[in-house]
Amino acid sequence: MALVAMASAKGSPGVTTAGLVLGALWPRPVLVAECDPAGSDVAIRMTAPGGQPLNSDRGLVSLAAASRKGLGDDVIMAHSQQLDGGLDVMIGVRTPEQIGGMGGLWQPLGITFNQMFSADVIADCGRIGPASPQLPLVQAARMVVLVCTATGSSVAHLRERLSSLVHHVDAKLGVIVVADPKKRDGVKQVWSVLDAMSVPVQHRWHLAYDPVGAAFFDGRGQGRLDRTPLIRTASDIAAELAALVAMPTQHDFDMAEAAFPHGQGGPHGEGGPDSLGGPNGEWEGR
Ligand SMILES: Nc1ncnc2c1ncn2[C@@H]1O[C@H](COP(=O)(O)OP(=O)(O)O)[C@@H](O)[C@H]1O
Ligand SMILES: [Mg+2]
Repeated sequence: MALVAMASAKGSPGVTTAGLVLGALWPRPVLVAECDPAGSDVAIRMTAPGGQPLNSDRGLVSLAAASRKGLGDDVIMAHSQQLDGGLDVMIGVRTPEQIGGMGGLWQPLGITFNQMFSADVIADCGRIGPASPQLPLVQAARMVVLVCTATGSSVAHLRERLSSLVHHVDAKLGVIVVADPKKRDGVKQVWSVLDAMSVPVQHRWHLAYDPVGAAFFDGRGQGRLDRTPLIRTASDIAAELAALVAMPTQHDFDMAEAAFPHGQGGPHGEGGPDSLGGPNGEWEGR
């Protein structure tokens, strides 16, 4: 299936919220993976079924340790858990220090996420730039979606980030602008900024700025979520985005081949999903 990497250029425009809401509305099985080096918000904001706390020992950090023996659907799901409501999530690092030993994991994890049998993966990659540790995971995605708001500074940073990312990322690019549903002019201005750039951003969406809807993804929801502008706008985005990434691309094969030449292991290499590993059975750099 597919990896969709979501990220921001600067600030806190709503990447985590957008990732969770798109995951909740995704038309196929999906895992929302927190790959933000700045630390997990899901573990703090959300709960497990029955309002229980999430298991903070089960997530990206435990996966990193287990990945020494290889990666595959079973390993990924063994380090994931369900939110109240049923969405599968992999919670991210507790502190930025915990990503220190993960240098060699990002690329094989991205390739594995992009080729899982059982689910698509929406990765919340936090802020992204050319020097970000999680960039190799973003590079493995079938689609990269940057989230911004319609303010001048958010758009200026988006522009700058797109101009540099395009040299590092081959995937399809999309932008989600989080803005008040009534402020369509602000959204149009963002589109005209993108039109004036040489970077091709083929896919553009407007996600409602909606504090009432967003509160449900912040652990503070009250009332009915289904009628909120957030859900209405996110439903269309989830349907379109899922359709756009449904088919594997040449980029996927090229990435997997570059990482695991001539079938030397890899997500679905010769050994099959249960005996996965990098070239030496261990990820490089670990
Ligand atoms: N679409 C939205 N409408 C209203 N508030 C939002 C929206 N998305 C996020 N927020 C709020 O903004 C804050 C930051 O959101 P978050 O998703 O954590 O951003 P990021 O992941 O980009 O740092 C949270 O309080 C969240 O509830
Ligand atoms: Mg976030």
